[in-house]
Amino acid sequence: MIRLAGILIGLVFTFVVLLAFVVGAYTAATEGMGEETAEHAFHLDPEHVEFAHDGLFPSWDLQQLQRGYQVYKEVCSACHSMNHVAFRNLEELGYTEEEVKAEAASWVVPGIDPDTGENSTRPGLPTDYFPSPYPNDVAAAAANNNAIPPDLSLMTKARHHGPAYVYSLLTGYQEPSAELAEEFPDSLPGPGLYHNPYFANLNLAMAPPLTADGQVTYADGTDASIDQMAQDVAAFLTWTAEPSLVDRKRTGWPVMGFLLFATILAWLAKKQIWAGLKPRKD
Ligand code: HEC
Repeated sequence: MIRLAGILIGLVFTFVVLLAFVVGAYTAATEGMGEETAEHAFHLDPEHVEFAHDGLFPSWDLQQLQRGYQVYKEVCSACHSMNHVAFRNLEELGYTEEEVKAEAASWVVPGIDPDTGENSTRPGLPTDYFPSPYPNDVAAAAANNNAIPPDLSLMTKARHHGPAYVYSLLTGYQEPSAELAEEFPDSLPGPGLYHNPYFANLNLAMAPPLTADGQVTYADGTDASIDQMAQDVAAFLTWTAEPSLVDRKRTGWPVMGFLLFATILAWLAKKQIWAGLKPRKD
């Protein structure tokens, strides 16, 4: 009786699993077989870029991060905030305390008039966070064709292949191809929009921010090509999103070493404990 019940329950389970599999396979096979969309046909995955913080032996290229900060400051900060980063964090990029103080003071942050209590502005302090270029979202949207420039602090974490995505987005602006214009006229950029195949829906409200070689003059003398500036700011935004990335990856090595050591120890201990016990021969 119990055995029969067991077989029946087993059969029901098998049937349910089989059903789920067949339905899943059918959905997977027919998915996307409907109308072809412009995004499906023309969206591109980010290009591959090499960074010092990639790979098995990562490090921060501090020179590059400093250049990236310069690009953020001189170009991107006109529209994008970076609310999660404080000026004092810049010390991690190799600036001295004095330099950070001077750097913070070169920014204007919201403050309060000490006499009247009215909202006003003051020079930044190392403990301040990077300010927003707009007083509020309405002003930000009004200035950018109804799109609010997102905060960049965590941007490279918020997109797949973040650093490569930022690089590709900045260097990927182009005229829509003739095929796109012919097949999907509705997906051509409308007024105030720009075509970029790396952006999810192919058109975004950010005008190409990096437009000319030499747009910034790097303090370290590096040639500021568009490609270089895009790589540098992508590296910088990787650091803002995860300053502990290099430490985290490096921790992996001691952990692996310890695990190996512990495994060898466990194996030796096992040998020791079982040494006196020979297998029984029948
Ligand atoms: C003139 C204003 C302006 C400047 C300058 C600017 N951006 Fe933007 N950015 C925008 C706007 C507006 C959006 C929102 C676009 C949209 O959603 O259509 C945006 C969106 C983005 C996004 C998000 C894209 C996504 O996947 O949602 C990234 C990343 C970005 N900008 C990076 C940068 C970087 C890096 C710089 C500096 C090199 C920069 N931007 C300079 C206005 C600007």
